[in-house]
Amino acid sequence: MKKLFLISLILMMPMFAQASGGPSIKLDTMEADASDKSSLQRGMQTYVNYCLGCHTAQYQRYIRAAEDLHIPEDLVMEHLIFSDQKIGDQMTSAMDPKLAAQWFGATPPDLTNEINLRGTDWVYTYLRSFYADESRPYGVNNVVYPAVGMPNVLADLQGIQTKTCGEVTQLDDHGAAVIDSLTGEAITEQSCELLSVAEGSGTMTPAQFDAAMYDLTNFMAYMSKPYKSDSQRIGLWAILFCLMMTVLFYFLKKEFWRDVH
Ligand code: HEC
Repeated sequence: MKKLFLISLILMMPMFAQASGGPSIKLDTMEADASDKSSLQRGMQTYVNYCLGCHTAQYQRYIRAAEDLHIPEDLVMEHLIFSDQKIGDQMTSAMDPKLAAQWFGATPPDLTNEINLRGTDWVYTYLRSFYADESRPYGVNNVVYPAVGMPNVLADLQGIQTKTCGEVTQLDDHGAAVIDSLTGEAITEQSCELLSVAEGSGTMTPAQFDAAMYDLTNFMAYMSKPYKSDSQRIGLWAILFCLMMTVLFYFLKKEFWRDVH
């Protein structure tokens, strides 16, 4: 029993490691919806227009996306493939990784599996958290990923956000101020807030931009689990099948045992 307890404790260790890592930043919630095909289509359009130039999605083929997202192949060829790539090709970019590392200080990673790595909440919040910071080479920084090498490629849609920081009173779980037991004064903490952009500085309103980033994150979630909508559909039929068989076997059992009693 003791051994079993030890083994399960060791197996749980990576969980604790994850829980304690990194600074705590409040992430906005994003629930991916693999069944919302039009959201996925819009997300793919944003991806090829704004991201593919730097970030490959090399485990995703155009043709598989066309089938899964119900986009006719000729429309994919016309509107979603800008290079001389073919419909059966993987979604790669023409950027030389060595040059990219020189320009941005880091190679833009492949994003096919990004959601498995970071989760939807992280990516959704990251994409909406760029703000002006003149101390950075490209004039922008990111709340979720401080000192990020990625330029704010979405600035023409969103406009440029600014960040303001100030001291706020720390609150406990019940919303009451936390009092320092030595000084008797309320404890304060640094809190930063992103100020939304000046009206008209981006082509989208904040609500439109959030919706576009939802769709983009949704598409990235699809890429990291392309079988999800299939498995949900098949899973439902499998459960129905099991239920039907349970009823059938119940009556069969009754029939078999009738003569025994
Ligand atoms: C001009 C090139 C460029 C474009 C375009 C670009 N990125 Fe990036 N991106 C980068 C670089 C460089 C990094 C690595 C940053 C670092 O490690 O400091 C990065 C990092 C990221 C990360 C974090 C990766 C990680 O987990 O460490 C995500 C997520 C991301 N980009 C998403 C996107 C999305 C979505 C788009 C399209 C809207 C996009 N990027 C467009 C250059 C780019």
